[in-house]
Amino acid sequence: MKIVSSIEELRDQLRGQLRTAFVPTMGNLHEGHLSLMRLAKRHGDPVVASIFVNRLQFGPNEDFDKYPRTLQDDAEKLEKEGVYVLFAPTEKDMYPEPQEYRVLPPDGLGNTLEGEFRPGFFTGVTTVVMKLFSCVQPRVAVFGKKDYQQLMIVRNMARQFALPTEIIGAETYRAEDGLALSSRNGYLSATERTEAPVLFQTLNKVAEEVRAGRKEVAQLEQQAMTSLAQRHWQPDYVSIRRRIDLQPPSAADMEQGEPLVVLAAAKLGNTRLIDNLEI
Ligand code: PAF
Repeated sequence: MKIVSSIEELRDQLRGQLRTAFVPTMGNLHEGHLSLMRLAKRHGDPVVASIFVNRLQFGPNEDFDKYPRTLQDDAEKLEKEGVYVLFAPTEKDMYPEPQEYRVLPPDGLGNTLEGEFRPGFFTGVTTVVMKLFSCVQPRVAVFGKKDYQQLMIVRNMARQFALPTEIIGAETYRAEDGLALSSRNGYLSATERTEAPVLFQTLNKVAEEVRAGRKEVAQLEQQAMTSLAQRHWQPDYVSIRRRIDLQPPSAADMEQGEPLVVLAAAKLGNTRLIDNLEI
């Protein structure tokens, strides 16, 4: 596996490749990421991974500085997965001058859910993803469904800009107790780690109620938030949305069996976890 940090070297390595499958990451790789690499391998060749902790998508009080950086370990894991090139740019490589041109997701999708609680987050994501796509020029790119809203925003961006990149969504990789794997799980204390699966259990309860025919969306959401708060979580949201556009379902949607997804974000101690479940 070649590890390159400059955009020029990356382009040299990938010249003439027409079927590149790309997996962008921020590193600190776990089994979830590796499952994305395996899916990428089924959709293209060569597989290119990137590791870049993108300052643009972190708020001023978020964990940019303490985000785990484990490049050596990550590179070993990627090598074993048969990744052809690892693009691991420095901030100077990626942003040699202030990144003044940005990609702005639409209000309805970009400012709700994660966008409401992390202002500017999705602009940071779409800007770096657009730039990474421009560097790698992939035919396909793989994103995890764990970041459901991110996947939808990137997919819509690719469609609206007519990018020649197909966006593939990968199922969320879970620990045996149901906790969705995430680099941020590493921040949890041992006690918090035993509590953490409750987030997914809560989503399952909401999904079960909806499947059983309950239609009072606001009540179900509030019930779930309250039960998390009672267990000392600080929920930002538990929200039932339409899968198609992540907007709240109408009464008619609930009557007509519109495909839904329930999404949640909540803090456990100092760690903010997100998860979702298609209903
Ligand atoms: O999901 C992530 O790890 C990041 O948001 C991404 C897509 C690599 C962009 O920095």
